[in-house]
Amino acid sequence: MAVHHNKTEDDITAEVLERFSQTPDPRLRQIMLGLVKHLHAFVKEVELTEAEWFQAIEILTEAGRMCSDKRQEFILFSDTLGVSMVVDLINHRKPDGATESTVFGPFHRLGAPEMPAGGNIAHLDKSGTPTLVSGRVLDLDGAPIQGALLDVWQTQSSGLYDSQDESLGGALHMRGRFYTDAEGRYSIRTALPVHYPIPSDGPVGRMLRATGRHPWRPAHIHFVVSADGYEPVTTHIFDRRDEYLGSDAVFAVKDSLICDFVRHEPPGGKPHYTAEFDFRLKPATELKATVLDAQQRLAALGARAAE
Ligand SMILES: [Fe+2]
Repeated sequence: MAVHHNKTEDDITAEVLERFSQTPDPRLRQIMLGLVKHLHAFVKEVELTEAEWFQAIEILTEAGRMCSDKRQEFILFSDTLGVSMVVDLINHRKPDGATESTVFGPFHRLGAPEMPAGGNIAHLDKSGTPTLVSGRVLDLDGAPIQGALLDVWQTQSSGLYDSQDESLGGALHMRGRFYTDAEGRYSIRTALPVHYPIPSDGPVGRMLRATGRHPWRPAHIHFVVSADGYEPVTTHIFDRRDEYLGSDAVFAVKDSLICDFVRHEPPGGKPHYTAEFDFRLKPATELKATVLDAQQRLAALGARAAE
């Protein structure tokens, strides 16, 4: 390419694209060319000022500094900008009868304890309303899958995940791993999930406030359901009664994941809830990095930050 001595902004874009056009790996070449094209177009469209450019550098630097084994500010940015759900929808085009996926979120932790059927993940939660979540894990023909693993996590009734609650001193709580029985059944004792605000003490929170957005997520329970020979699904179940179903801060609600949490008030007994949800898994097909690999890498980000 000819050397320019009086470059315009469009000359620079062309030169950068040219420089990346020799990338040997075709997929990396596609990604880098697309990134440069759209990033340059964005900067030109909004006519980014030098002060705004520096603010962006500060925000990204602060986001990086906030990341630890308990905090993933970049996933929070991805979630609140809707990018996580666009990636989800591109990678899991439905309907095919399998349970729909949704965001992984920033709060998964490795090492949740294995629990028997009916195990209580909320044993330290004294103020929550007891809730039994049960159902089956099935294949696309409706046949039960024995030995499917359900990795479960949710907030306490305070609205905080264990990693956000200093009184727990780092202990795991509201997390468990459950296996299905021969009929594909699982059952989990927990506390009624509540809506909660995503962490707003960092750059993501400042973005939400500056743009007039609320930080609330509708009440939900997180699941990663996996079984040998099937494609794992990362998903939530949502409480149908929640006021934030229509305005989730991270855009993660799908109709098929909305579930009835039924209140029971036995005479003389304490009120409690039950919820039933069946998960359907499709057969594993592809040899490329699986969904679960991606989840393990994301979860390991926290573990690596703690080193
Ligand atoms: Fe959550």
